[in-house]
Amino acid sequence: MKSKALITLLRDGNIHSGESLAQSLGVSRTAVWKQIRRAVDDGFEIATVRGKGYRLLTPVDLLDAGTISDGIAPELRSRLQLTVLDEVDSTNAEVLRQWQAGVNEIPVCIADCQTAGRGRRGNVWQSPRGENLYLSMGLTFHGGFSVLDGLSLVLGVAVANALEGLGAESIGLKWPNDIFLPQGKLGGILVELQGELQEGVVQVIAGIGINVHMSRADSVDQPWTSLASAFPAQAWTRNRIAAAVINSVQDAVGIFAEEGFGDFRSPWQSRDIFLGRHVRARGGALEGTGAGIDEGGNYLLRTTEGVVPVRAGEISLRVRP
Ligand code: BTN
Repeated sequence: MKSKALITLLRDGNIHSGESLAQSLGVSRTAVWKQIRRAVDDGFEIATVRGKGYRLLTPVDLLDAGTISDGIAPELRSRLQLTVLDEVDSTNAEVLRQWQAGVNEIPVCIADCQTAGRGRRGNVWQSPRGENLYLSMGLTFHGGFSVLDGLSLVLGVAVANALEGLGAESIGLKWPNDIFLPQGKLGGILVELQGELQEGVVQVIAGIGINVHMSRADSVDQPWTSLASAFPAQAWTRNRIAAAVINSVQDAVGIFAEEGFGDFRSPWQSRDIFLGRHVRARGGALEGTGAGIDEGGNYLLRTTEGVVPVRAGEISLRVRP
């Protein structure tokens, strides 16, 4: 965003004279005027108040690495490599690049917008500037790929815990880890595995997208919602949400790495949006009633032939129309 310094000054919503803006930015009044035009091109609505100055009409929620860092638990903060970017292709791709460049700390990347945001099953993840949270964390596990069973679901529980801790209610999970509210999809998690390194070390990128302020998305083909529209009484800021998600993911992953999936089964099931509902799996070849998850995190369908586990990657569960 070219106009970030100007928007930072205007974000209080008060009127700022051209002269005071010029002074704060260290530029001429003509240059301020040019920056105002650029900010309008960036999508901000700015009113010119005759004889007084400029007032920003668009609510802004700027990302700030320092504020995010302040919200992270101190013992974790020192182990993170936090990168906050104005724009990136995909925060998952950026975490991978950081690993490839030799970053030793836990890489965390957050971006104001993504130009090639990735969703599950090869879908595009709409990533408009300034509206939502796009966050990826690089996680390292020991013990080979088998220790990752259930990780996707653990991440869903971690994100739900974080959002509930900030005041969101009725967060649901759609197997394996879509974040739902009764109004529709609120967020999603893309887990990408890297190859197994020496001695059973496995690296996983957890990419988390949460709709925060988004008010329109033309090409999303399912009901969706955002935190600001579902909980308008709360002042949602991406910095606070990011810090809460990072803390919660790290807590959950620590427990998962030590003790496995067991402790997460019940918090996942209590948020299961399919429980007791008719659902289809395997492209419609299997129908049944949602019956929660087994101890490995597979989804269970109660069918006429008994309870059938549906394995990760095998299906897309859809509520029967
Ligand atoms: C889904 O399809 O539900 C998963 C969406 C995951 C989107 C997030 S946004 C941050 C990270 N970077 C990406 O390119 N994708 C994930």
